[in-house]
Amino acid sequence: MKVTWTLQDGGSLTADVAPGINLMEAAVANNVTGVVGECGGNLACATCHVYVAEEWRDRTGEPGDFEDAMLDATEAARTDASRLSCQIVADESLDGLHLIVPTP
Ligand code: FES
Repeated sequence: MKVTWTLQDGGSLTADVAPGINLMEAAVANNVTGVVGECGGNLACATCHVYVAEEWRDRTGEPGDFEDAMLDATEAARTDASRLSCQIVADESLDGLHLIVPTP
C-alpha cells in the first residue's frame, strides 16, 4: 500500500508501506522529518503526531482514550485531524493514505 506525507517544507513523499506496521514506523523508515517516534510506539511521547487529511479521517477512525490524552502533549497544535501515527496500523483499506506532518 502507498502512503503520502506532506512534509514540513511543503514537499511530499510517497512510499510503499507494508501492511501490519504502524505509520510512525513507516515514517521513520522513510526518513520523514518531524515524525520521531521517541517511545517506540508505546503511547508515551507524542513525537509521532500527524494530521490525517480530511478525506481519510473516517477510515483512520478516532483516537482511543489514552491516545486522546497523549494528544494534549503534542508539540505542534492539536486539531481535529490530529492522530498519533504509531496508533494507525497500515492495511490495504488505507492504500493511498495522506498524512500531514505538523510544524511546531
Ligand atoms: Fe511515542 Fe507514538 S511513538 S506516542
